Amino acid sequence: MRKHLITVDDLSKSEFMSILEQGKAFKEILTRPIKKIPTLRGKTIGLLFFEPSTRTKLSFELAAKRMSADIVNFTASSSSLKKDESIKDTVMTLDAMKIDIYVVRHSSPGVPYIVADHIRGSVINAGDGAHSHPTQAILDVYTIWERFGTLKGLNITIVGDIKYSRVVRSDIDAFLKLGAHVTICTPRTLLPFSVSSLGVKVNFSVKEAIKNADVIMGLRMQKERQDSGLIPDEVEYNHFFGLKEEILGSLNPKVLVMHPGPINRGIEIDGEVADSEFSVINEQVTNGLATRMSIFYHLVEA
Ligand code: CP
Repeated sequence: MRKHLITVDDLSKSEFMSILEQGKAFKEILTRPIKKIPTLRGKTIGLLFFEPSTRTKLSFELAAKRMSADIVNFTASSSSLKKDESIKDTVMTLDAMKIDIYVVRHSSPGVPYIVADHIRGSVINAGDGAHSHPTQAILDVYTIWERFGTLKGLNITIVGDIKYSRVVRSDIDAFLKLGAHVTICTPRTLLPFSVSSLGVKVNFSVKEAIKNADVIMGLRMQKERQDSGLIPDEVEYNHFFGLKEEILGSLNPKVLVMHPGPINRGIEIDGEVADSEFSVINEQVTNGLATRMSIFYHLVEA
């Protein structure tokens, strides 16, 4: 594995598979009464979250603790960034404290590359603007792989705000790398200009897009990154592009309904769907912990 994990492109197919296999071993450890292993003893992990997060931050923090690492939590709002210190100087300050792995989330695309240029350790991208979220893609792939044994030949439909989602970019790269067929479904105003280069099918009808799906992935409306006026309103969006209760009757019994979270009930997904027997949304969170342990393992073993 390379020194940094900034996009899914940093992983070969065999490295991807190795992370999944090792993730399975870590998932088993997480069911034991004593869930701690010494793999990262003596290593220091810096959690640099410049943007809010529940799942990703807590999952990385717990993964590091389960592996016996020391953790430094950097909080932008109480840091010297508030005294106009630059990200470069902030990161060089942390580097002087000899942190081994930096987990970085930022609202601007590309910040993990800036961090990587100024430190001696490794960088894991925990989400940068609308660019990339590779560890979400790894946990999503794991969740599908665990159920189906492979992604090859599966039909995966992604419904929601495609244009502003970093998850979708990483998921599409990962799903295609592992041989799945991907369909996206979104309003025309939330279709990225680069759609023809993505290697996916586009369908503007949720009913049609999910017809033969093995996996249905809902995506949150990324209001924090959107200009206004891209959809008439959330009620109309839910009517045409929401994963609504009505779809439940027509689903193949083995279909997985996924969502990276946080979910907005009644907008991109109805509560009846999010809480249905098809939903693996909470399983994704559990798998996030196991796969992030595996990512740490692969970085320190590299
Ligand atoms: N899926 C995800 O990245 O969630 P958080 O923003 O809560 O980390």
